[in-house]
Amino acid sequence: MRIILVGFGVVGQSLARILLQRRPELVRSYGFNPKVVAVVDKGGAAVNMRGLDLEEILSLKVKEGTVAASRDGRPDLSALEVIESVEAEVMVEVTPTNIKDGEPGLSHIKSAFRTGKSVVTTNKGPLALALPALTELAEYSGVQLRFSGTVGAGTPILDLAKKCLLGDRIISIRGVLNGTTNYILTEMEEKHISFHQALKDAQRLGYAEANPSMDVDGLDTACKIVIMANWIMGRKVTLKDVKIEGIRNVTREDLEEASRRGRTIRLLGFIDKDLKVAPTEISKGDPLAVKGVLNAVTFTSEFTGEETIIGRGAGGMATASAVLRDLINIKEALSSTL
Ligand code: HSE
Repeated sequence: MRIILVGFGVVGQSLARILLQRRPELVRSYGFNPKVVAVVDKGGAAVNMRGLDLEEILSLKVKEGTVAASRDGRPDLSALEVIESVEAEVMVEVTPTNIKDGEPGLSHIKSAFRTGKSVVTTNKGPLALALPALTELAEYSGVQLRFSGTVGAGTPILDLAKKCLLGDRIISIRGVLNGTTNYILTEMEEKHISFHQALKDAQRLGYAEANPSMDVDGLDTACKIVIMANWIMGRKVTLKDVKIEGIRNVTREDLEEASRRGRTIRLLGFIDKDLKVAPTEISKGDPLAVKGVLNAVTFTSEFTGEETIIGRGAGGMATASAVLRDLINIKEALSSTL
């Protein structure tokens, strides 16, 4: 399978590392033979139709700051030029989320569809703004669109709801969907550190979005709520349908006071009649009272009742593992011999 990788930050580099480490096993276990033919970052591109040397690309990214410094470097090429001119089966889009207009991810995805490429993305912007339209466009173009890594990083939250609860009807969803804010709230509560110190640590650990306001103001959770409502529950909603409150006003004192009563505060996203994101007091015994960078989602379905899935919700390697899962699923869906 020929892959174009657009975006080479934490997730893109983690994916390259996983592909390097696991290649023989991927071929053996899944008949999946990934060949990264192009990588694009802010400094340009590297292109090699025989497959890029990912070890060289990774080390150049660290040393020179751009993949365009490689011997296969093309500083003159933009992402759109690469997507349009390089032959590949899949484009992996891992540029940062922008919820104003979804760009540049939205144009990358449309361009990939136009040129017959399936897409795997971790970019929540285009999906939160236009998931129904993008799903239709993918179908029309005869390609696949996968985005497991947009919700729960490597934890298969979307797959649990869509595949494992097949046939049942999910009535409502509530959950901790942002690792950064959960990490911040846990650190403030347990280590008695300030909001700003905890945020700095979350950024250093690669959990936070490029713009951390996305996390702390609840927008990232809202994007995930929109993706889940569309994908799992078939609702045609966008960000403007979500009532959003972040965690900036939650103090250490609020957390300590709740703790004395056996309770804690978590940033929860709700999909019920309405869509909402808000810091919410819950019992410490609630399955959603997870700690650190964990995510936890409770699905309430008609026949099964309540089911909660818990797992790591952020981090480069965790998110890259979801991208890999999507790539293998695409390979299987296309019944390809690539
Ligand atoms: N910034 C996000 C989080 C990354 O903290 O959950 C995963 O979407």
